[in-house]
Amino acid sequence: MQPDIGIHRARRAHLLKAMGEGVLILATAPEAIRNRDAHYPYRFDSHFYYLTAFPEPEAVLVLIAGRNGKRPRHILFCREKNPEREIWDGFRHGPQAARELFGFDAAYPFAELDKRLPQLLENQPRVCYPFGADAAWDGRVMGWINTVRGKARAGVSAPAVIADAHALIDEMRLFKDAHEVEFMQRAADISADAHLAALRACKPAMGEWEIEAELLRAFRRGGCQAPAYTPIVAGGANACVLHYISNDQVLNDGDLLLIDAAGEYHGYAADITRTFPVNGRFSGPQKDVYEIVLAAQAAAIEAVRPGTTWNAPHEAALRALTRGLVDLKLLDGEVDGLIESEAYKPWYMHRTGHWLGLDVHDAGEYKQDGDWRVLEPGMALTVEPGLYFRPGKDVPGHLENIGIRIEDDVLVTPEGRRVLTQAAPKSVKDIEEAMREH
Ligand code: GLY
Ligand code: MN
Ligand code: MN
Repeated sequence: MQPDIGIHRARRAHLLKAMGEGVLILATAPEAIRNRDAHYPYRFDSHFYYLTAFPEPEAVLVLIAGRNGKRPRHILFCREKNPEREIWDGFRHGPQAARELFGFDAAYPFAELDKRLPQLLENQPRVCYPFGADAAWDGRVMGWINTVRGKARAGVSAPAVIADAHALIDEMRLFKDAHEVEFMQRAADISADAHLAALRACKPAMGEWEIEAELLRAFRRGGCQAPAYTPIVAGGANACVLHYISNDQVLNDGDLLLIDAAGEYHGYAADITRTFPVNGRFSGPQKDVYEIVLAAQAAAIEAVRPGTTWNAPHEAALRALTRGLVDLKLLDGEVDGLIESEAYKPWYMHRTGHWLGLDVHDAGEYKQDGDWRVLEPGMALTVEPGLYFRPGKDVPGHLENIGIRIEDDVLVTPEGRRVLTQAAPKSVKDIEEAMREH
């Protein structure tokens, strides 16, 4: 599967309409040094990629709204061809090929930005760019605007309004088109396979890092370019550390293993968590807690449909988890009152999900005019309730160090929902069967 350039160009046209007038300037992410001469693997900026599909660093998108009968213009600045650098660092498209292949009206060398941008901003009413996101770019854009201001006596006007480019693009990115859903489904399928591989490989006395290795292998083998985020492979008590990523402890017989890991496919993230017993059999207390989280997740997934609010899945999960905490005798009282007083918080301290897309915590507002957003077809979100029992005065010994989260990726559809990550085993029966087979 490859990006469809026509779709990226259509997104730019849509953005130009939403923008109305002026010039949009959007740079991709810079390369990042890990240490001395070693770089982190390069990852483009998600907003930039959404609009261009252009994967190289040192690139800037400039969109100019049409006016006075002139057509809108889509312009790319990118690195020039450089036979010497290409020996060391690999292929670069160069402006000419980039213009043709990525559907631009014009493309120029990145090195010409400071020369050309002031010209492009002359007599434009507005500049739209992600101000505040990067101090160096802020300074550069202000420099271009000041250059134009310097021509006032020659009758040239400078943009008088600066608008946030991200807000406009965030709103577009919130609604996934069919092309994006295909990429997200592929990321989900590969990630579900990776969870199955990890579950099959798992045995007592293995290291968390060995399970991590299974996951990473499955991501790359399946065609993901990278993990979507650093995998969490958390045995036993480590599952109660929400952002545990050291993955350097040995897995004990009798403990649970929580894995929160997924791959990224052409920029699109999956985000899956599964929790299963290291030895293949849930203990009584582990199963009791697991069934509560699973029921909370089912209720939350059921609450995903057009017309409900962003918060409805969270409320459904809270209800089921709080009832479960009463059943476990950790809480006492009426469920409504316990939810109202947030009595569940010591054991459920995070929210039930987030938007998902090019970023694992994807773009998009969660509220509009102070109210939770209404779910609409095309929105994609995670559903990820959990319970975490760190040792403490209120936690009985048989629950100590049990940490369970179950996370799936859900697309809102006209009929209700589609769970993208079904393929990773989730019921106690399916997990135990899959582990017994190995
Ligand atoms: N894996 C990141 C999250 O679940 O939010
Ligand atoms: Mn998540
Ligand atoms: Mn996750």
